[in-house]
Amino acid sequence: MQTTLPLASVKKLGEFVDQDVRLRGWLYGGRSSGKIAFLMIRDGTGVVQGVLAKSDVEDEEMFQAARKIPQESSIIVAGKVRQDDRAPGGYELLLSHVETYSEAGEYPITPKEHGQSFLMDHRHLWLRSRLPHAILSIRSSVEFALRSFFDREGFTLVDAPIFTPNACEGTSTLFQTDYFDKQAYLTQSGQLYMEAAAAAFGNVYCFGPTFRAEKSKTRRHLTEFWMLEPEMAWADIDDVMQLAENMIASVIGTVLERNAADLATLERDPAKLEAIRPPFPRITYAEALEVLAKQGKTLAWGDDFGGEDETIIANSFAKPVFVHRWPREAKAFYMAPDPEDDRLVLGVDLIAPEGYGEIIGGGQRADSLTYLEEQIAAHDLPPEAFEWYMDLRRFGSVPHAGFGIGLERFVGWICGTHHVREVIPFPRTMNRLSP
Ligand code: 4AD
Ligand code: MG
Repeated sequence: MQTTLPLASVKKLGEFVDQDVRLRGWLYGGRSSGKIAFLMIRDGTGVVQGVLAKSDVEDEEMFQAARKIPQESSIIVAGKVRQDDRAPGGYELLLSHVETYSEAGEYPITPKEHGQSFLMDHRHLWLRSRLPHAILSIRSSVEFALRSFFDREGFTLVDAPIFTPNACEGTSTLFQTDYFDKQAYLTQSGQLYMEAAAAAFGNVYCFGPTFRAEKSKTRRHLTEFWMLEPEMAWADIDDVMQLAENMIASVIGTVLERNAADLATLERDPAKLEAIRPPFPRITYAEALEVLAKQGKTLAWGDDFGGEDETIIANSFAKPVFVHRWPREAKAFYMAPDPEDDRLVLGVDLIAPEGYGEIIGGGQRADSLTYLEEQIAAHDLPPEAFEWYMDLRRFGSVPHAGFGIGLERFVGWICGTHHVREVIPFPRTMNRLSP
């Protein structure tokens, strides 16, 4: 092989039309006859069809060997780039050289249908297939767009710890671990740390993995998921809703621009996403109960919504909908009381369209020390573990607010996938810790 040939990638073949190039990748699939072989070559950036004519290769042995390369072997090829509007991606490679770098054994994932659980057992290999590749490419864009959005808005990225001494979102979903001679928990949320950081930097966010020992086996729950959490000093619940809707619209705009081909691979109608423009409807918890009652679903005042309730509410609106001002007992200890109605707290959830459920939870935080002490006691939380957090109210307390967006639920909605496990590279659920 002429190693002086320029090294191309599938994505950049357009820069090499009618030129000879080298390409390194894996054999995605192929078919052949006695005179011609078609090799589907993927290199991570895309898939291209290589056409190998017996008459074009250096020797017949290479042609016969190329026909027998097992699926997913790593290969190095050389050939001429040809523009062909009928080819997926618009180009073909007229191959003159094919060489196997490492021959694959019998690949377990074949073009026939496999069940989800078989595919998830082989997730380390399944990542190479078209659908996971499209979904995880969109996830990468969403993470990029989120970080870019907060950077443009002047937020400082402050990383929160993973080992924590206290609960944030209730004690029923804590993962406990030994920490030398003490107990530690895997973080459920970086929020409490972002409240500390907001008093130092003003507007901040963290973005990382969070953990919940969720026993619910629904299509919306993982035990390890990624959450982005902004927190703003001198801000209220209305600021939270405005920031959240601008963030969602900005991220969706980026995905529509960068990932049109991936959305097409997933057969996701972009028109559904193009319609997501602020402002989003805002209803109170009490109004949400009325929406449910009209659809024949009667909840007691104070009940939290289940997945099915969220879907009913979502289907009553064309865009994502904010539900704000919740009964105190339905929400976490740190929520600010509503000055207009002391049964309520200034919490807000954003419910996504099309049955994807709550993708954002947040609100305004209690800034009074005495109120917070009462709530910590009322929720049976150990006050010692929250001493540092109470300091934030002892030293220059201000109104502040923020939210958390679950990355997998957000990406799942954008991609139109059935289950959140499909949008994280290596999902962790009650039944899955491997690969
Ligand atoms: O509503 P949650 O529990 O809110 C908090 O954790 C706040 N401390 C965030 C904050 O105000 N800084 O969780 C926020 C979001 C949910 O709306 C959902 O999208 C996602 O995190 N989420 C999960 N995603 C996947 N699997 C789970 N088990 C999830 N639990 C929450
Ligand atoms: Mg929530």
